[in-house]
Amino acid sequence: MQGKVIEVKDAWREGAHVDDSKYREMYAASVADPNAFWAEHGKRIDWMTPFSTVKNTSFEPGKVSIKWFEDGKTNVAHNCIDRHLETRGDQTAIIWEGDNPDESKHITYRELHAQVCRMANVLRNRGVGKGDRVTLYMPMIPEAAYAMLACARLGAIHAIVFGGFSPDSLASRIQGCGSKLVITADEGLRGGRKVPLKANVDEAIKRLDADLVDHVIVVRRTGGSVSMEAGRDVYYDEAAEQVTDECPAVAVEAEHPLFILYTSGSTGQPKGVVHTTGGYLVYASMTHEYVFDYREGDVYWCTADVGWVTGHSYIVYGPLANGATTLMFEGIPTYPSTSRFWEVIDKHKVNIFYTAPTAIRSLMGGGEGPVKKTSRASLRVLGSVGEPINPEAWEWYYNVVGDKRCSIVDTWWQTETGGILITPLPGATALKPGSATRPFFGVTPEMVDAEGKVLEGACEGNLCIADSWPGQMRTVYGDHERFEQTYFSTYPGKYFTGDGARRDADGYYWITGRVDDVINVSGHRMGTAEVESSLVAHPKVAEAAVVGYPHNVKGQGIYAYVTLNDGEEGDDALRKELVTWVRKDIGPIASPDLIQFAPGLPKTRSGKIMRRILRKIAEDDFSSLGDTSTLAEPAVVDDLIENRQNRA
Ligand code: WTA
Repeated sequence: MQGKVIEVKDAWREGAHVDDSKYREMYAASVADPNAFWAEHGKRIDWMTPFSTVKNTSFEPGKVSIKWFEDGKTNVAHNCIDRHLETRGDQTAIIWEGDNPDESKHITYRELHAQVCRMANVLRNRGVGKGDRVTLYMPMIPEAAYAMLACARLGAIHAIVFGGFSPDSLASRIQGCGSKLVITADEGLRGGRKVPLKANVDEAIKRLDADLVDHVIVVRRTGGSVSMEAGRDVYYDEAAEQVTDECPAVAVEAEHPLFILYTSGSTGQPKGVVHTTGGYLVYASMTHEYVFDYREGDVYWCTADVGWVTGHSYIVYGPLANGATTLMFEGIPTYPSTSRFWEVIDKHKVNIFYTAPTAIRSLMGGGEGPVKKTSRASLRVLGSVGEPINPEAWEWYYNVVGDKRCSIVDTWWQTETGGILITPLPGATALKPGSATRPFFGVTPEMVDAEGKVLEGACEGNLCIADSWPGQMRTVYGDHERFEQTYFSTYPGKYFTGDGARRDADGYYWITGRVDDVINVSGHRMGTAEVESSLVAHPKVAEAAVVGYPHNVKGQGIYAYVTLNDGEEGDDALRKELVTWVRKDIGPIASPDLIQFAPGLPKTRSGKIMRRILRKIAEDDFSSLGDTSTLAEPAVVDDLIENRQNRA
């Protein structure tokens, strides 16, 4: 499939960082001699001790080890703040746009410095130092960025948990990384609704060993009343009054961990993805500059939440390392109206806008009116991330939102990759709606078949990356073996992404989605195993199997097959009860969309659930179920088809 081609427009080319031939030249240099390429680009950040070695990496089974700029020392907060003070102290670093359209503020680099130092001192006074883990469970307020940068300043490791996760999910993540300190807010505010963050933290801590969490720092957001435990909990504003706004940035080794971020895999509980300092920052800042064609003075807005990797790399670290003005949005696209995104773009004269296909699809449903009543004249580049963008949504983004003027960058990457790996570059890449196009500098995609044979030319297969890039995750926190097992054992010697893809004759990549048991719901990653284990914990449930199915707005929806214990009745009331159960257990993002009560699940004679069949039925496509003769009880399939919940 070649797809429709949208040639590079003059408007994108003018003043762009690279054109097509420069891209090809830089890409060739980056893969021919990664040491030389990254030695040069490693200098884009300040080093307190310069590095003398660049790449020291191995994907070899049993010996996977990833180190970049190993003997250099630096500090991420210094790079994101201090080094800009002389030249841009009075420039806005962060524009904060509140949930309520009447609330917004500008924070300069100088103010950011003072705020981050204060937060760092508050943490330091509570014993936080280099290598200590700090859990953040925060709304999208500037203090979330201050807290991240304060940890970085001290060499502490932050572990952010998305504010939509339940107390149970929060507890297991606090436990998983052994945080003694949690930073939260009284309540979050989204779409006019309050989110009980502090109450959730209290619930989470009750589930943990009594001596684990020593301190909870509570930022006042709504002013809502919350319970405060004496000796443990403190309001941030009160603690901040006690400290100065000067705090030195600690020089740490390039491979010192910057953060842990939990993400879902195909098996078991979420794993703590570890990113380190030097290579991560070099990669996040370089991709931010080139992929969005970031230019001095641009206002840049990424709509993600800091609870996800996109918020880490492309709201906070990449943009601030580049001295950009980054917009942080507390609200949602549909509040107070479905014009909100476009109104915010006009209000703050946003030049670069980065969002998820699910948001685009949901707004598309409301037609062009809410978009067209705004100007959007400031826009130059439009980005997409998190899931495959279907060509219809791509074209709407391009034609309606961007008025056919703007370059679209469909950026493919993962929590594990730290930054964008496959993407167009504005001014350099002719676009094809639905394709993430070509690899970024230093990235070596490889397509393999099921047996691991490397495919050449136009093909369809599993997407691997042959060699390391500086932003790559280094390990699973506390479990290096799981890291090797998860990413390097399927196709030994290669990093396996878990994604399927096509490569066309122009060498463009078309990501087709996960080939493992991970599903992508509204751009949020979920392991089907997590939802299953939540369902089977319900007293009426005997067995559950969860798969994804195509969903118009969410990309994928969650389809659960549930077998009840003998004597239980599967009705709508129980469906509701199970949805509530999972929401409470994991969080609202894991709510099943469809539940089918099934007397039996299709299993092989050895008892393995045949997920392929369940996926097909959930897709309402049961004409090609393939060979069902190996099933222990072929008849269960007829019942499943008969009672399927997704009917076109
Ligand atoms: C999917 C988000 C198609 C993919 C940064 C990947 C995409 C997973 C794209 C990672 C894209 C992300 N086109 N699919 N442009 N971007 N994905 O870890 O399946 O939350 O493996 O990172 O999202 O999700 P994660």
